[in-house]
Amino acid sequence: MTADKDLVQSSYGACCLSPKFFDDFYDAFLASSSVIAGKFVNTDMAKQKRLLRDGISFMIMYFNGTAVGRMKVDKLGESHSQGRMDIKPQWYDLWVNALVKTIAKHDPKFSPVTDRAWRTVLAKGIEAMRSQYYAPAAAGV
Ligand code: HEM
Repeated sequence: MTADKDLVQSSYGACCLSPKFFDDFYDAFLASSSVIAGKFVNTDMAKQKRLLRDGISFMIMYFNGTAVGRMKVDKLGESHSQGRMDIKPQWYDLWVNALVKTIAKHDPKFSPVTDRAWRTVLAKGIEAMRSQYYAPAAAGV
């Protein structure tokens, strides 16, 4: 049986090769709530899509237990915390659902097994980000 990390890595590879993947993700995510859309009114979305491409890689690296993954996800937890961008902990469920829905459209090998693997991998980094909502750790420490 293919490990979650290998399944997610190859699924993400397919998504990154699909030209409209990040456009479709933000269309789905912003459509999930007007509160979410409101957080991005002043955002340069072309830049944001490039940043998210790396951001998802960092989530995968974090799941794999690498030091770089840990440092990057700590930084993301800090930037998304209450005192900075104020990303509410409950909004991550909308983020995951929009992402998995978009992956299903762009990964030709997508299946319920891929769905579960992505949710398992993302849950670990999201738990770390959410845990920093009130008291972000100093990044990199
Ligand atoms: C695990 C889930 C998420 C990942 C991997 C992620 C990733 C990123 C990255 C890489 C950036 C740019 C770097 C930075 O500012 O730290 C960013 C910025 C941002 N994220 Fe997230 N994010 C996630 C969840 C969310 C959620 C749930 C929201 C809810 C609205 C959100 C809203 C934002 C906003 C508003 C910005 C700043 C945009 C700007 O510069 O105007 N993010 N995110």
